[in-house]
Amino acid sequence: MIHRKNTHHFTTSIVVFTVFVIGIIFYNDLTQFPFSQKIFPSFINDGETFEDIELPPESCDVFDGSWVFDELTHPLYKENECEFLTQQVTCMKNGRQDSMYQKWRWQPKDCNLPKFSAKYLVEKLKNKRLMFVGDSLNRNQWESMVCLVQSAVTSGRKSMTKTGSLSIFRLEDYNATVEFYWAPFIVESNSDDPEMHSILDRIIMPESINGHGQHWKNVDYLVFNTYIWWMNTMKMKVLRGSFNEEATEYDEVDRPEAYGRVLKTWSEWVDQNINPNRTMVFFNSMSPLHIKSLDWNNPNGIKCAKETSPILNMSMPLNVGTDRRLFTVATNVMKTMQFPVHFLNITTLSEYRKDAHTSIYTIRQGKLLTDEQMADPAIYADCIHWCLPGLPDTWNEFLYAHIISRS
Ligand SMILES: *[C@@H]1O[C@H](CO)[C@@H](O)[C@H](O)[C@H]1NC(C)=O
Ligand SMILES: *[C@@H]1O[C@H](CO)[C@@H](O)[C@H](O)[C@H]1NC(C)=O
Ligand SMILES: *[C@@H]1O[C@H](CO)[C@@H](O)[C@H](O)[C@H]1NC(C)=O
Ligand SMILES: *[C@@H]1O[C@H](CO)[C@@H](O)[C@H](O)[C@H]1NC(C)=O
Repeated sequence: MIHRKNTHHFTTSIVVFTVFVIGIIFYNDLTQFPFSQKIFPSFINDGETFEDIELPPESCDVFDGSWVFDELTHPLYKENECEFLTQQVTCMKNGRQDSMYQKWRWQPKDCNLPKFSAKYLVEKLKNKRLMFVGDSLNRNQWESMVCLVQSAVTSGRKSMTKTGSLSIFRLEDYNATVEFYWAPFIVESNSDDPEMHSILDRIIMPESINGHGQHWKNVDYLVFNTYIWWMNTMKMKVLRGSFNEEATEYDEVDRPEAYGRVLKTWSEWVDQNINPNRTMVFFNSMSPLHIKSLDWNNPNGIKCAKETSPILNMSMPLNVGTDRRLFTVATNVMKTMQFPVHFLNITTLSEYRKDAHTSIYTIRQGKLLTDEQMADPAIYADCIHWCLPGLPDTWNEFLYAHIISRS
């Protein structure tokens, strides 16, 4: 009886509350009555003046900081409200039970990131093109950005098209695009086919970039990355001649040396082809993997599969196997450039996010993992890519800070 009575009471409350809310919404619509902003925090966005958004001082290192649990402001959008997310990243829908991983905010030590406003972002992207170029981690971040901008445009025309290596998300009413271009090594390689790229014997042409590069011109924001495809062999195969010849001949070059050659080609291409008065260029440092749970002192872990919270002690020295030599190569190349590239130093802060990977709640060869595969995380957990909403949203918050800081 008590149970019934409580249920009844609860239902009545919901009805009363709903009527109240609907009343307020209508009232608000008709009269623009401002008090709703105080009553319902979710309405604050609508009445927000963009002057409220504060930029961090340029001297502040926003990548130095810590993870703060903040379910008031995060996630920045909901998994089931972004129709453009692919099955690869919708971890909750794919069976993940814990959702804390969506609710961490990055807090720089000496300043604040600007409060994220999707409306302000789409205003800034009006008549502009934003393009991510790189591998599946940059695609991960692109999907996040699509969700971030589309959350501001509840009605209105949006579309997604894919032609060869280029995927384009359009906000028609804003004449804005958020694009992704598949080029896992940035330069030309035998892994450039956007569909058929499960190639173990990877071969690159470190000095060949114009074929891809022609697709990157006339873009307003370019975001590059390359890392994960370098990691399956210690040496990189560098083509002699061209792929069209009968026999493929190659040299094996140490990873950092080959990486340096690629980034030198890229940096010269940027210097020669991109107008800094129009375009902002970003380079993402490496997105880390979490393969060995002993790296973070969890003897009972299985890769990243059992992790539900970040490593919160930022003073804990952490080595999850990231090839830091490539980080050094990248920062050194950027020092030689005329073009003012923004280096997005996401590696260290992401290393603390062992909880944020797609793990077993993802696809493999285009299909959701079967129950048997899910039961075997040691083999099947993906500790490379990230759930969305999640960590890549933070990477985009850094991007957002730069985009809105532009006059
Ligand atoms: C990158 O950020 C980390 C902290 O997240 C910091 O320790 C490191 O010095 C930074 N590196 C560069 C090149 O800014
Ligand atoms: C639409 O965006 C494109 C690409 O950014 C730009 O070149 C063009 O001028 C814009 N069109 C209008 C009508 O502003
Ligand atoms: C960029 O703008 C500056 C200052 O207005 C000008 O001197 C320079 O020639 C411009 N550069 C290009 C590549 O258009
Ligand atoms: C954080 O890690 C450092 C270095 O390992 C250690 O000295 C310190 O006690 C840790 N702090 C906490 C709160 O666990």
